[in-house]
Amino acid sequence: MTGHAHAKPRSSASDYIRFLKAWVRQPRQTASIVPSSPWLGRLMAAQIDPNAGPVLELGGGTGALTREILATGLPRDRLEVVEINQQLARELHAGFHGVRIIQHPAESICEQAAGGEGAYQAVISGLPMLAFTPVQQEAILSEAFRLLAPGGAFIQFTYSPRSPFRRPVIQNLDLRIERIGTILRNVPPATVFGVRRAADTD
Ligand SMILES: C[S@@+](CC[C@H](N)C(=O)[O-])C[C@H]1O[C@@H](n2cnc3c(N)ncnc32)[C@H](O)[C@@H]1O
Repeated sequence: MTGHAHAKPRSSASDYIRFLKAWVRQPRQTASIVPSSPWLGRLMAAQIDPNAGPVLELGGGTGALTREILATGLPRDRLEVVEINQQLARELHAGFHGVRIIQHPAESICEQAAGGEGAYQAVISGLPMLAFTPVQQEAILSEAFRLLAPGGAFIQFTYSPRSPFRRPVIQNLDLRIERIGTILRNVPPATVFGVRRAADTD
């Protein structure tokens, strides 16, 4: 989805209503009735370098993480946002001029990502990873790591204090997980995990 809409990103009250509407229609897919807080968004966005390569965001929702990623100074043409829900994807498109919005499942995102394989410095994920089957998790991580540059990280938040990734999935793909931090001020409190190739952490 590309275009030239100029609408501003909307307020958090309006975000909340739009999120609630998405949740009423697709509760499992939306997974939360409240958009992420700015504090959570900032912790995730702090993992990127605004002067480095492109960033892929998965599960854009109403743009709570998108706003914080752009606030780092990353140029808009270096951010692509994936959102499966058609209505939310349309609203992201209208609200974030210059950011490429891709309405597509994250499980098969490689073919849609403009940056190409090995180009992305980071993947920032707001996907409801805990709700996904091991097969879905493996598809999403393996697509993401095809797109990530050497040293690149997959950054995920979760409402559990533990990693949301199934251990066999992480082992099959030869990845390593680190806990980045917990944001108590988020509703509900959220923990951020980073996933990297084992070869990059040894
Ligand atoms: C918990 S919400 C997070 C939204 C936003 N990033 C935030 O932090 O407030 C999860 C979002 O992921 C989207 N989503 C769920 N499954 C998806 C999939 N397989 N591919 C792409 N997006 C997906 C949902 O539509 C929803 O907007």
